[in-house]
Amino acid sequence: MIIKKAELEAVAVKPSQYPEDNMIEIAFAGRSNVGKSSLLNLLTNRKSLARVSGNPGKTRTINFYRINDSFRIVDLPGYGYAKASKSLTQGWGDMMEKYLQNRQGLKVVAQLVDIRHAPSKQDVQMYDYLRYYGLDGLVIMTKADKVSRNEMAKNIALIKKTLDLGPDDKLIPVSALKKTGYDELLNEFDRILEESDR
Ligand code: GTP
Ligand code: MG
Repeated sequence: MIIKKAELEAVAVKPSQYPEDNMIEIAFAGRSNVGKSSLLNLLTNRKSLARVSGNPGKTRTINFYRINDSFRIVDLPGYGYAKASKSLTQGWGDMMEKYLQNRQGLKVVAQLVDIRHAPSKQDVQMYDYLRYYGLDGLVIMTKADKVSRNEMAKNIALIKKTLDLGPDDKLIPVSALKKTGYDELLNEFDRILEESDR
């Protein structure tokens, strides 16, 4: 797949603000600061389609990006940053649940984890939740530029084990900085789109 066209179609905090049709969607979930918005910019080859920040908690809404007029990438708000207030955390849970539970076109939620660390407790919770709803199967390891080859192999094993991944689950390393991994990920998107066409 080549992404020729990408546009922000909707910014939502509740279902009435979602795009109305049932176009296929692939969403990005993961803790704040893991690199969801950066990955979107990498895939679309646009520097600032999605806002990126060194401070966690940048994306607090559900952002729908329309890709090649054929599917959407959905940038979800991150979890797990220290400064979030209790009411904000509750709002986050409610917002995520409504989207993940009832979205017709949603096929896969890619879980993003930082390749440098073992997945956090919240990462594990998130992935279990995705598994429960049948939205699992794709894990993207971000910031691959920050580890050596040796560390990478070691951390991949740790991530597999901590998230309890099965043999069919896909794990893809990416680096928004070095611009690597996007071709493999786009191939995976092709496969997901083909599969949901049938
Ligand atoms: P929220 O919107 O808070 O949920 O965060 P996010 O997951 O969208 O993270 P974002 O893309 O805003 O990136 C957070 C920080 O990580 C920024 O400072 C990015 O420049 C940095 N970053 C993202 N991806 C990479 C990467 O592949 N390599 C390196 N070295 N830094 C990265
Ligand atoms: Mg973001």
